[in-house]
Amino acid sequence: MYNPTLQPFIDSVSQSKKLSKSTQDQYFLHRLIANIDDIHVLFAGIYGHLPQAKDMFGQLIQVLFQAHLQRSQALKNRDEVKEKKGKWFLSNELTGMSLYVDRFAGNLEGLESKLPYLEDLGVNLLHLMPLFKSPEGESDGGYAVEDFRVIENKLGTIEDLRKLQAHLLEKDMYLMIDIVLNHTSHHHEWAKKAKEGSKEFQDYYYFYDDRSIPDQMEETMPEIFPESSPGSFTFQESVQKWVMTVFHQYQWDLNYSNPKVLIEMLDNLLFYGNLGVDIVRIDAPAFIWKQMGTSCQNLPEAHQLLQLIKLCTEVSTPGMAILGEAIVAPAQIMEYFGKDRYATHECDFAYNATHMALQWDALATGDTRIMLEAQHELAKKPLGSSWITYTRCHDDIGLGYDDYMIANVGFTPYLHRYYLKNYYGGLQEDSPASGALFAINPKTQDARISGSLASLCGLEKALKAKDSKWIDESIQKILLMEAHCLFLGGIPMLFYGDEAAYTNDYSYLQDPGKSYDNRWMHRPVIDWEKNKRVKKKGTEENKVYTSLKELISLRKKLKVVADLKNLEWLPCSNKSIVGYVRYIGSERVYFLFNFSSLEQTIPVHAIEPNKQNKNCLWSKKQVSLEKGSLSFQPYQFYILADS
Ligand code: GLC
Repeated sequence: MYNPTLQPFIDSVSQSKKLSKSTQDQYFLHRLIANIDDIHVLFAGIYGHLPQAKDMFGQLIQVLFQAHLQRSQALKNRDEVKEKKGKWFLSNELTGMSLYVDRFAGNLEGLESKLPYLEDLGVNLLHLMPLFKSPEGESDGGYAVEDFRVIENKLGTIEDLRKLQAHLLEKDMYLMIDIVLNHTSHHHEWAKKAKEGSKEFQDYYYFYDDRSIPDQMEETMPEIFPESSPGSFTFQESVQKWVMTVFHQYQWDLNYSNPKVLIEMLDNLLFYGNLGVDIVRIDAPAFIWKQMGTSCQNLPEAHQLLQLIKLCTEVSTPGMAILGEAIVAPAQIMEYFGKDRYATHECDFAYNATHMALQWDALATGDTRIMLEAQHELAKKPLGSSWITYTRCHDDIGLGYDDYMIANVGFTPYLHRYYLKNYYGGLQEDSPASGALFAINPKTQDARISGSLASLCGLEKALKAKDSKWIDESIQKILLMEAHCLFLGGIPMLFYGDEAAYTNDYSYLQDPGKSYDNRWMHRPVIDWEKNKRVKKKGTEENKVYTSLKELISLRKKLKVVADLKNLEWLPCSNKSIVGYVRYIGSERVYFLFNFSSLEQTIPVHAIEPNKQNKNCLWSKKQVSLEKGSLSFQPYQFYILADS
């Protein structure tokens, strides 16, 4: 909305910044004028009561100007291209992969040489796990950042990242990196100054003189790493105070009630935008606002801050989309797409963590009914925003869907989760899966699950047993899991190593900086000799890689799988079979999956009343529906289009 009282302010900053009459400068001004009122309202809603609010708002606007002026011509041109495409990121042509640069390719330079491998597979969006300086041994995989502007030495330099980005641009590939918004390493310069006693920098974090407030807050704050890092506060010897550390003790929570923190972190985020980042992954956004008496997660102010950040990026780095890494309950995740006036103006993406966990649920039980129970919530995602769909990532699997979804199909939620944790967590001997429980909470017995896609699908045990039938079944499960998430809607994000069927890597146990965190078992170091096997016919690596490559290529050809709120779940009348139809206009493609280890059959009338024969785009065979039923081999899936 246009706000005439803010116009003189914009005029004076634009004069001092010597904005030209060029179209791109003028577009920037248009975007600013269109958004400044909302930015102001959101800012004042959080900081308006502070005496320095006006000054700080002025600084925020300066940051927006600066980011625009520092944005390269190439990126401004790309912004225009993206704008013409509309919501470019809803496309079916994107497929991502998350990877650790060091574990995948040594360093950023090495990664360049691996681009042909990724291109061959069909990956065109790279999510590079945290790149910025982080202390060895207290790094949380890079999520404890010491300097937001300096790349970790072993990975390379900012120049290497710029070079890589330029290459990606030439290849029409996209880049995603993280901004760790919620906390810094205790080695960050702000933390160091706070440790030396600076009140100014202690106010960048949450410091308390004694345990009285921490004790009260801990009553309602869930623990994130109860085994390795219990509690949410850590005693800081040098100043004899307690500092808030929700994650690890070496990760200090930033205090966003201090506007300086917001402005500094916004500046860092826009700096990433100007490195050419296409999607910025905001780490742990659910946690950025804290309030006594609450869980300190998903609070309204956290959403206001995210909306404010989103509007600022729309003004200064308009081609950059935002992914909010909120791994929260199904109803709460919807809030991250923005509500009411801010619908689709908060995060462009969220992880579909609910669906991911439900795929694992269905795979263990051979029963897809809970998956269906959750869909009414997931379907609320507004048109114009999207999911990151995935089977595995660098983190654990949390069974975070609601109890009522489990109860609705007649199971007891506690016992059901207990079964799944035993099945995947290495506690049930006859389970095909090899995994481990992560972050067991001794008070609640809550736990999450670690393990690689291949190991959780049974390949590790099958290889050990040298049982070829079991090996084939595990591979079929891997493909079922990947296919289900590739076509569901949103950008599929593969996890590196999964394309070559990596099983768990237990070497982390020998490294004291990692041994306390079993998520490292599914973060492999890529052995490029082993990866050569992806081209060697008949190997497990080859079977997974070539099939995945084919699925990705199919996804790119199917416009119906762009994320346009164009999915309907099918009534399959068989609890082991789940299916959805994706459509645009009169074009319909049916995706049907058997999550059970047994052969299954469904009546076709529910999915296709006309019983018209179809082509399976996956097996490349005609599928006859005339006889009224469709049969499935164990873990088989169909992708059916009109013949
Ligand atoms: C996010 C990351 C996770 C990390 C945590 C703390 O959840 O995905 O790996 O441990 O944030 O930064």
